[in-house]
Amino acid sequence: MRILVLNGPNLNLLGTREPKIYGSETYNDLINLITNHCNAKNVAVEVRQSNHEGVLVDWIQQAKGAFDGIVINPAAYTHTSVALLDVLKAVDLPAVEVHISDPDTREEFRKVSFVRAACVATVKGRGLKGYLDAVDVLAEIK
Ligand code: DQA
Repeated sequence: MRILVLNGPNLNLLGTREPKIYGSETYNDLINLITNHCNAKNVAVEVRQSNHEGVLVDWIQQAKGAFDGIVINPAAYTHTSVALLDVLKAVDLPAVEVHISDPDTREEFRKVSFVRAACVATVKGRGLKGYLDAVDVLAEIK
């Protein structure tokens, strides 16, 4: 099985970005955590990050045929992006939405998720480990 893990804006700043909310582990730590977990499960994985909505849309379009499932933390685009919702529906690959924090317990504007309607599951508020739960959800499906 091949999984594409996508991260949206500012997640490259993990470790220094609001550590009380997102923790002190870095983006590289996140890549290593996911890679080790996937290696142990015999799952092929690619982890990417972009600050640009259109780049994330392009990567999701290109995932069709190249990956069997998508783990996505759209970060701020969660709460704004119809384009990400549409492309996830268009490619029709199983996708799991992940958030390091629990946006539903934060500001009102974070309670809306556009992508959720195109995802088979949402994992939130579990820190970086949430990505591993999301991988496990996809691995169960296949
Ligand atoms: C986030 C939550 C979003 O509301 C926020 O914009 C992020 C990160 C999370 O992982 O908790 O950038 O997706």
